[in-house]
Amino acid sequence: MALSEESLRKIDREVAKYPPEGKQSALMAALAVAQDEYGWIPLDAIDEVAHYLGLPPIAVQEVATFYSMFDIKPVGKYKITICTNLPCALSGGERAARHLQEKLGVGWSETTPDRQFTLVEGECMGACGDAPVLLVNNKRMCSFMSDEKLDALLAELKE
Ligand code: FES
Repeated sequence: MALSEESLRKIDREVAKYPPEGKQSALMAALAVAQDEYGWIPLDAIDEVAHYLGLPPIAVQEVATFYSMFDIKPVGKYKITICTNLPCALSGGERAARHLQEKLGVGWSETTPDRQFTLVEGECMGACGDAPVLLVNNKRMCSFMSDEKLDALLAELKE
């Protein structure tokens, strides 16, 4: 397993944003690039990123395991992270979470048998006023998720 040339060039662009002695500052971005390529971050990718940035693999692993946006185990094609913290929970977040669990037939951190969806319970995303909120693959935020909007989102992702 090796990162593609395209991914390495993307990491190079991130590295170029910092002075040469601060190359390791591109670590978060490099892990995001690796996750985009593999769909998750396998151990080999941790080693590869560490080697590329001149960091000890354990330092890379610490970051990869600390942040919930990084997946160190395989996930479905679409990881849906829904916020159930208190402000969201009081504004429909729990209802939306139950709806997704029923529709997908999975519990927290589980993946559908067809490996299309993984459902994750998330922490505050700083968008409490837009509850219920969720993230698709850590990047696309969806707000005010009524049951109808959840159904439409699932239908769109299944296409
Ligand atoms: S509590 Fe859900 S976004 Fe803040």
